[in-house]
Amino acid sequence: MTVQRNLWVSGLVTLILLLYWTDATGGYFAALNAAETSKNCFCELEGSINDCSCDVDTVDHFNNMKIYPRLQSLLVKNFFRFYKVNLKQECPFWPDDSRCAIRFCQVENCEEQAIPQGIKDKGEQKERAAAFKYTREAQREGKACSEMEDFDSALGFLDTSISDQAHREFELWAKHDEAEEDFCIVDDHEEGSQYVDLLLNPERYTGYRGESAHRIWKSIYLENCFGGNNETANKFSSIVGHLDLRDMCLEQRAFYRIISGLHSSINIHLCSKYLLSETKDFLDPQGHWGPNVTEFKRRFSPETTADEGPHWLRNLYFIYLVELRALAKAAPYLRREEYYTGIAEEDEEVKMAINDLLAVVENFQSHFDENALFSSGIASIKFKHDYKEKFRNISRIMSCVGCDKCKLWGKLQTQGLGTALKILYSEKLNLATESGLWDMPHIEADPIFRLSRTEIVALFNAFGRLSNSIYEMENFRRELR
Ligand SMILES: *[C@@H]1O[C@H](CO)[C@@H](O)[C@H](O)[C@H]1NC(C)=O
Ligand SMILES: *[C@@H]1O[C@H](CO)[C@@H](O)[C@H](O)[C@H]1NC(C)=O
Ligand SMILES: *[C@@H]1O[C@H](CO)[C@@H](O)[C@H](O)[C@H]1NC(C)=O
Repeated sequence: MTVQRNLWVSGLVTLILLLYWTDATGGYFAALNAAETSKNCFCELEGSINDCSCDVDTVDHFNNMKIYPRLQSLLVKNFFRFYKVNLKQECPFWPDDSRCAIRFCQVENCEEQAIPQGIKDKGEQKERAAAFKYTREAQREGKACSEMEDFDSALGFLDTSISDQAHREFELWAKHDEAEEDFCIVDDHEEGSQYVDLLLNPERYTGYRGESAHRIWKSIYLENCFGGNNETANKFSSIVGHLDLRDMCLEQRAFYRIISGLHSSINIHLCSKYLLSETKDFLDPQGHWGPNVTEFKRRFSPETTADEGPHWLRNLYFIYLVELRALAKAAPYLRREEYYTGIAEEDEEVKMAINDLLAVVENFQSHFDENALFSSGIASIKFKHDYKEKFRNISRIMSCVGCDKCKLWGKLQTQGLGTALKILYSEKLNLATESGLWDMPHIEADPIFRLSRTEIVALFNAFGRLSNSIYEMENFRRELR
């Protein structure tokens, strides 16, 4: 979702208005605000992360010292770097206007000789045809659209090249996964799904902005959050502030904070991997990308966000704790996973690294309490249902992102979040855990709860993105001091 970042950028305006809802907790926030302004930087958050039992400093230290370094080495492994995703799904909600965003595929990477041998190999003809189509289309669109937008969209170029060896391994993985398919529904089998090498397509500033990007966030906040109705939509469009979200209950607030936290995280990535060089050589992976403090201030300082920036940053900590808790809860399950790539040595290494990471995660003292949500009888059943519906819809909206790289990271991060919520609120997982299933030998364990490879890859990478944001916050703080 590199490209996506920008879309989030544009959504900022939306946020500015919406975040007023954090006022729901009234005096509590006033106190926090006082604490925040007494510091010399707006991003020097301190104190409690509302709706959770721990504070910002604790998370900073825990993440930066323990989680971040571990994830850095884990996520470059083969198991985690190839993500299967369908970027060709049509936007179900409005006419697709994303054509222009891929026009810069006319670069070398898309020419025939650049298409990896593995894709051209026998047995992969379907994918090969798709690759050519992509190229030709992209080239045509390039001419058609080049007058309409500036060079920025080139930043959203998605590098789909994958080594021959990787392709051979995918076949092995697919066989392996199929063997286990009997008891799980994998939704990445659709036509049009492809493997993407995440390391070749880092999430960073893409220049994706404007109406298309704006619409994505607008529909997420106004049509897919609780409380986003006709009235709020009117307020949004007329840019009169202050949504009255005081009546929201914990569940609704949590939903909003999770989305806001994700949005903040994506914006932080954009600020920390900003295109710094003025040259037009964007496709050079060695290009000059780095932190832009001005941009960070623009997006988050109280002056430019009607005092909401610090709340948005705090929401990043909230979603971090939600996903952290999901990892802890699923730890017994995740320890049993094989992380199969066919390279025995690496698989073993990954398993050890996972065990190490999970042990650290489990040792965290003040985990998010998922039982605080959906605990009020009948109403909670409806809530859970609504949550699911809204999340599914948000992932559908991701197909409307008009920039492939943004779409990639948008899908990955929403799927990761969706997986985390599935873990937190899965009755099957609870059942399996209560019955001591995970302590039994593999063979006896009835796999009533399963995650697909794609879900696991998304879960860890999405958490890795949040971890990265908290780490980058520390850098911005240092710069701003
Ligand atoms: C899904 O999102 C679209 C686009 O924002 C919106 O129009 C629609 O009402 C949403 N559907 C549900 C079921 O929330
Ligand atoms: C939404 O607001 C507009 C303008 O205030 C109004 O004309 C319209 O009837 C409203 N729609 C609904 C469904 O309430
Ligand atoms: C940083 O971002 C600002 C916009 O917030 C932009 O005007 C400026 O040129 C950027 N700085 C660099 C070095 O790219």
